[in-house]
Amino acid sequence: MERSLTMELVRVTEAAAVQSARWMGFGKKDEADDAATTAMRKVFDTIPMTGTVVIGEGEMDEAPMLYIGERLGLGSLPKVDVAVDPLEGTNIVAKGLWNALSVVAISDEGCLLHAPDMYMDKIAVGPKAVGLVDLDAPVEDNLKAVARAQGKDMEDIVAIVLDRPRHARLIEQIRKAGARIKLISDGDVAAAIHTGFPDTGVDILLGSGGAPEGVLSAVALKCLGGEIQGRLLPEDEEQYQRCVRMGLENPKQILRMEDLVKGDDAIFAATGVTDGELLKGVRYQGSTATTHSVVMRAKTGTIRFIDGTHRLEKKPNLVL
Ligand code: FBP
Repeated sequence: MERSLTMELVRVTEAAAVQSARWMGFGKKDEADDAATTAMRKVFDTIPMTGTVVIGEGEMDEAPMLYIGERLGLGSLPKVDVAVDPLEGTNIVAKGLWNALSVVAISDEGCLLHAPDMYMDKIAVGPKAVGLVDLDAPVEDNLKAVARAQGKDMEDIVAIVLDRPRHARLIEQIRKAGARIKLISDGDVAAAIHTGFPDTGVDILLGSGGAPEGVLSAVALKCLGGEIQGRLLPEDEEQYQRCVRMGLENPKQILRMEDLVKGDDAIFAATGVTDGELLKGVRYQGSTATTHSVVMRAKTGTIRFIDGTHRLEKKPNLVL
């Protein structure tokens, strides 16, 4: 893949963030999501590539989602797989809370996991704990492994978990092990990325969330040298068979980094929509909007933080 695509992807997430952040606090998650999706699609269609959405939140009949199978880009080479979440944290924006992001990832064609939008069980850690955790191991063992790898005591470890009734037992097990917990209302992509940035104070992500979010997190962690393992959680035979039709021989197997994102190259970009530990949210003043983004490439391991100042009177949709 051309390295110039890194900058192109930032333009995509910047546009989606600028359009959706306008809805912050209005209690209208669908409107915020639509704004992000429309902006993202417009900018994607200016990029010299042929992208296919292989995992995302929408199905073909759920317009205006960027649906699985949708073609993006100008139709030229390179051919790439695309994973998208135009607005990761729709409720976060609706309420003006923390860590909503606009997120995209691409890889060479055929390298990202192709799977339906369903739940995925996840464990994610930063570089020091790579190879030391296992999705099937007892929670306490994983926490001990992370503590050892980080050179910390158990009481210093912070696990991040989506605050959901389905996680009651997991939360109890973490508490019993003696680690601290950060319960979040939404946004497990940001949570997974935070394990790769020690300054955020997060050591491990545990629990289930969306599968598209799992693939996006895998690309980010591949760039960061961290690790995520996942297992799809089909809720019925219908969902199970959809996984099989999408090419997964055993939909309930543990998906490791190489299953989630194959090969040595992939690019991840995210722009903050609302403020978070890693990225600032969008600020507006008159006809100017400012954005804060991160873009990373697996092949080189380069991580760039980008501050953008956008003159909206010159570029109303952030498309030129
Ligand atoms: P949306 O932006 O699609 O609302 O997703 C937010 C999110 O919190 C994800 O970060 C997470 O993976 C998923 O929802 C969890 O799903 P649920 O809210 O059903 O537990």
